[in-house]
Amino acid sequence: MVPDLLKLQEHYAVAPSDISLAHIDLEHMPRHISIIMDGNGRWAQAQGLDRSKGHKAGVVSLKEIITSCVRLGIDVLSAYAFSTENWQRPQHEVDLLMQLFAHTLVKELHLFEEENVKLVFLGDVAALPKKTRETFELGLERTKNNTGMVLALAVNYGARAELTRAVRLIAQETAAKTLALDDIDETLVSENLYTTGLPDPELLIRTSGELRLSNFLLWQLAYTEFYITDTLWPDFDRWELLRAIASFQLRDRRFGGVKS
Ligand code: FPP
Repeated sequence: MVPDLLKLQEHYAVAPSDISLAHIDLEHMPRHISIIMDGNGRWAQAQGLDRSKGHKAGVVSLKEIITSCVRLGIDVLSAYAFSTENWQRPQHEVDLLMQLFAHTLVKELHLFEEENVKLVFLGDVAALPKKTRETFELGLERTKNNTGMVLALAVNYGARAELTRAVRLIAQETAAKTLALDDIDETLVSENLYTTGLPDPELLIRTSGELRLSNFLLWQLAYTEFYITDTLWPDFDRWELLRAIASFQLRDRRFGGVKS
């Protein structure tokens, strides 16, 4: 996407000393940025607050990063909001997150409309509580004709479950003889993932310093550049995003080959 330079400069005015728009090459932006938003709980606990306050602060960060990505002309932003493993959290925290997702979706529909953001979901959203599922359906419906950035929210998402689902879908077709074994290639596998139609992420950001993928986009991240920061998600802001992009732009991406 081509950024609106005036809006971009306004959004990134009053820069801190170490980073500014001048450190970024707008001609070589990652098309797809993916984020593992981690550290909400620790952020809250460090301030003597309930974990729920950390998740609420996490929503504020996500909103800032959505707007920043739109301003920067990013095509796709994907964010890991709830994993297939997160059901193991205490029931009250799961309930709070489900309510927070539903509430935020409805409250921020105007943001998606104003910023021309198209919403998609990665994961088994059919298994979510009714209210959450219904607000997600509303979000999909209301943003389906938007032509700007795609926001892919991973909710009840696990990469192993996603790959297992893809294997099943492909096996069904081969069993029905609508697909021959020789037709199964990497493109077909990609087409059967939740991310079908989206480019693979070029930059993965993980906050809170953890050095693991936590079952996120295992197939799609094959050649992605990683940026890990100790910053906790509620403290991750537009400047942190610029630092991540500046770091990405210094990388020498060879995709297994050599530089010509
Ligand atoms: C990880 O922090 C964060 C989550 C499991 C939830 C992320 C959700 C949001 C930021 C809200 C997103 C809102 C919408 C509408 C999608 P953690 O709880 O694992 O933190 P900890 O590792 O410090 O305990």
